[in-house]
Amino acid sequence: MKIVSAFALAATLTVALFSGSAMADGDADKGEKVFKKCKSCHTVDSGGKHKSGPNLFGVYGREVAGTDFSKYKALSADDGVWDEDNLDKWLENPKKYNGKKTSMSLKLKKEDDREDVIAYLKTLK
Ligand code: HEC
Repeated sequence: MKIVSAFALAATLTVALFSGSAMADGDADKGEKVFKKCKSCHTVDSGGKHKSGPNLFGVYGREVAGTDFSKYKALSADDGVWDEDNLDKWLENPKKYNGKKTSMSLKLKKEDDREDVIAYLKTLK
């Protein structure tokens, strides 16, 4: 029994270590594939037009609602910056981000997908 629980503890620690460092370890190439789901509403090129959602060029590190997009609903009064934590929270469930209504209906439920998409968003500069 002792051996089994030591093994379980080691496994738990490994998972904890990995998830602790995971935020920085997204795969941008995979993220670009995940981003196909986002393209109906977002362009990513510099100076790209806004669609149903704002252009996302340079979004990482930018002020929340920092473009001239005129249809921000949930985000218009927010004064945060798009860092990993905020993006993770937004992408997991935009409607719960600050409790305000938004027309961004897509949720990325898988943590891996969010990490990969965030890694991809970081390349848009
Ligand atoms: C149905 C359309 C739609 C889809 C699909 C969509 N978004 Fe959005 N997105 C929006 C809208 C609308 C906003 C503005 C939110 C608001 O203020 O209500 C937004 C805002 C954002 C913002 C904040 C931009 C800023 O300027 O502050 C990010 C980042 C973002 N979306 C990323 C994504 C990613 C990544 C995906 C794919 C996983 C995605 N979106 C899918 C419509 C969409």
